[in-house]
Amino acid sequence: MIKKNPKIKNNICLEIDPDGCAEHVENQVDFIKEQPNFENCPKKVLILGGSGGYGLASRIVAAFAGNADTLAVSFEREPTERRPGSPGYYSNRKFDELAAASGLKAITIEGDAFTDETKATVAKTMKEEFGKADMVIYSLAAPMRTDPKTGIIHKSTIKPIGQKYESETVILGKEDELKMVTIDEATEEDIVSTIKVMGGEDWKLWIEYLLKEDLIDDNAITVAYSYIGPVQTQAIYRTGALGKAKEHLEATAFELTELMKPINGKSYISVNKALVTRASSVIPAMPIYISALYDVMKEKGTHEDCIQQMYRMFAEKLYNKDNVVPVDDANRIHLDDWEMEPDVQAKVKEIMDSMTPENYKEVLDLEGYKRDLYEIHGFAPED
Ligand code: NAI
Repeated sequence: MIKKNPKIKNNICLEIDPDGCAEHVENQVDFIKEQPNFENCPKKVLILGGSGGYGLASRIVAAFAGNADTLAVSFEREPTERRPGSPGYYSNRKFDELAAASGLKAITIEGDAFTDETKATVAKTMKEEFGKADMVIYSLAAPMRTDPKTGIIHKSTIKPIGQKYESETVILGKEDELKMVTIDEATEEDIVSTIKVMGGEDWKLWIEYLLKEDLIDDNAITVAYSYIGPVQTQAIYRTGALGKAKEHLEATAFELTELMKPINGKSYISVNKALVTRASSVIPAMPIYISALYDVMKEKGTHEDCIQQMYRMFAEKLYNKDNVVPVDDANRIHLDDWEMEPDVQAKVKEIMDSMTPENYKEVLDLEGYKRDLYEIHGFAPED
């Protein structure tokens, strides 16, 4: 990877190196190839949102630790003469190349997963080239969704409910400035729209459609990803508009298990760890919380990236040797277990409480945060 600190604006990385994005995929594949393979695992995995973050990591684990054929859908920007494509555009191509070199079937469809057209394209591809899925992973993180029935465009917002949100955040860049942000409370419309985009409606539409087309195999499972988090992020996340969407997603999992009963299928939610991805980097206050968390978990030796989280989900949760998926009383798998350990959270709180405008760069692992953000865009930090 090129050593470069790319330009960042409002915590969004503005530069991309295609070769570095490809290398990031290769590194994750190499890591998984070194792990023990699973015996008991799915063979045909459909991943919705498979080009980055948790979805790409799921795809890599299914393929390279489980020898599964994978079909992934994602929404990526193609390169033009003036600018490169989005990171996932290059990740998709590298994944396909590495899968082919290992003799694995990999089909990548780039399109808007929320539309009926993309669903029909996926169904046609499954019938002609792929076969029935025995696992469907739902890992979409999107800013907007057009409701296929009404044509209304819904936008997802990251806002608190019931009160304004005021908090410090770090604006990454040359100076990594500490700033106060104030976010107005979500309106009723914001909440409804966020649920429309990030809740379970589209997940259900996918499963209903695939069942109708007889494209989900007996005993298949489907899993979607959620987040709960600690008290420090509650107001902006779990008790905010996004949290309402996650509650909806989690409730949908129960409905999908009912829908899948005739094929003995099951639906799960996996509550994952807070990590730097393209989706999470735009959530205010997350840079501070994640940097404090990285600090503590790296020190304790329990830090994981998306790829390690997803390996643990397959190996220890969904396809473990006991054949029993460990879930909480709301039927959720917890990969946030190490994040939420009381000693970890106590130290994170201590760091966040002790943070001042003078010491924040020393007490937070901002370097680790930025390294992850750069890496997703194909760069390694300058020395
Ligand atoms: P990401 O931004 O890395 O990946 C999002 C994926 O969705 C990409 O493959 C993108 O192409 C795809 N996508 C977006 N809009 C699309 C559309 N219209 N059609 C097709 N594909 C589309 O995000 P990340 O963080 O991996 O998020 C995945 C899931 O994991 C989300 O549900 C998120 O809430 C959840 N999660 C994330 C955590 C984090 O800290 N990053 C923590 C816990 C859960």
